[in-house]
Amino acid sequence: GSKKARFVIGMSQCNLGEPWRVQMNADIAAAAKEHPDIEVIFKDAQNDTLKQRAHVEELVAAKVDVLFVSPKEAQPLTEPIGKAFDAGLPVIVLDRAVLGERYTTFIGADNKKIGRAAGEWIKKVLGGKGKVVELKGLMTSTPGQDRSAGFREAIAGSEIEIAFEADMKWLEPEARKEMDSALARLPKIDLVYAHNDPGAHGAYLAARAAGREKEMKFVGIDALPHEGVSYVEQGILDATFQYPTGGREAVETALRILKGESVPKTITLGSRRFTKDDVKKGGERIE
Ligand code: FRU
Repeated sequence: GSKKARFVIGMSQCNLGEPWRVQMNADIAAAAKEHPDIEVIFKDAQNDTLKQRAHVEELVAAKVDVLFVSPKEAQPLTEPIGKAFDAGLPVIVLDRAVLGERYTTFIGADNKKIGRAAGEWIKKVLGGKGKVVELKGLMTSTPGQDRSAGFREAIAGSEIEIAFEADMKWLEPEARKEMDSALARLPKIDLVYAHNDPGAHGAYLAARAAGREKEMKFVGIDALPHEGVSYVEQGILDATFQYPTGGREAVETALRILKGESVPKTITLGSRRFTKDDVKKGGERIE
């Protein structure tokens, strides 16, 4: 027989410059490796929406059997993904959503729930009051919107004030820059809630450079073992919330689709909270 893979998955990744996305691709590759009849073609849009739209079109033109997309922004990726789906190509959307329902399956954690869990924990550690800096993920992407909305829902009615907010676009250098502004403007900050761990770490570096890192707590999201979880172990972050990549689940779902099985429209992944008190025993499940 031929050595060629029977099925080809095309994976459009929005930005491989971020550790969490390197992990997602690694999870996809590891799961695919267990199935010799599957090959994956990876494309990295390098955080450029137009490039990612072109990648989606290229993968469709290359006649891949299943298309994976982790879209940078919801609105601009909706049409190319929807077109592929309408033409009969199975499409799995990962972690960041698109508008509407023109895809086969969405796989990701519940960002609103994670934001709410972060808000509840923050409310508890601050005793229901204080000044918080919110460093948001790209607000044209759904996790940024949901992590903000869930957080605000949880702190509503408390005396926690969002004293400074900025869009750091998921990027550590942007977060550091925005945090410099927050530090210049606010004489007292109780806590920084960043929508991802690179953002929380950037804020920590800014505060440390100003000699103010002990004044406040830092909370992030992602909890990669070698990133956020390690920051908690080192006492850099006070908490991080796990955001699983869904890479393995995507490959498993693709295999089911290729076998002709029907798959759910949404696969929701769980999350865990890691703080210094429970990081040694693997954190705590978010309910
Ligand atoms: C990586 C990342 C993660 C974050 C996710 C949200 O690009 O910013 O840190 O959890 O995207 O989609």
